[in-house]
Amino acid sequence: MTWRAAWMLAGLATLGACAEEPDPRLLAMTGKAAEGRDLFLRLDCKTCHTTNGERGIGPTFLGVFGSTHELQDGTVVTVDEPYVRATLRKERRVPRKGFDPVMPDYSRLTEPQVASLVEFLRALK
Ligand code: HEC
Repeated sequence: MTWRAAWMLAGLATLGACAEEPDPRLLAMTGKAAEGRDLFLRLDCKTCHTTNGERGIGPTFLGVFGSTHELQDGTVVTVDEPYVRATLRKERRVPRKGFDPVMPDYSRLTEPQVASLVEFLRALK
């Protein structure tokens, strides 16, 4: 094998290792979405929310932004920026249907932090 082929194989092995990280979608993020991702990891949202479509203690974040679903009182809501804000500040009293009311209060987050989390959710299509 030439040194070039060996170098390419080494490169592929590295990519393979990256693919085993929790979620390649997270690695691909840039800008505000990446800031939101770091908050997601640091604030332990990941304890209850996945980014790969699997249900956790809370709903998955994959594809949640812009989606429509029901709350426990039958109200139909769209997950948009105001809804995410209200959720983080615990201003939305009625939990999503099928989930327990255990979403913590994140009112302490700053406005730029909330904006980054919104961009993070928007990027998880
Ligand atoms: C202890 C578990 C837990 C943690 C930690 C948690 N959440 Fe949640 N979250 C939930 C549950 C359960 C729901 C669904 C019930 C509800 O609507 O309140 C939810 C709902 C949500 C929703 C609304 C989703 C929808 O489809 O309506 C958003 C957005 C959200 N969480 C964002 C976050 C973010 C961002 C963090 C981290 C800063 C976080 N959550 C941390 C449990 C958690």
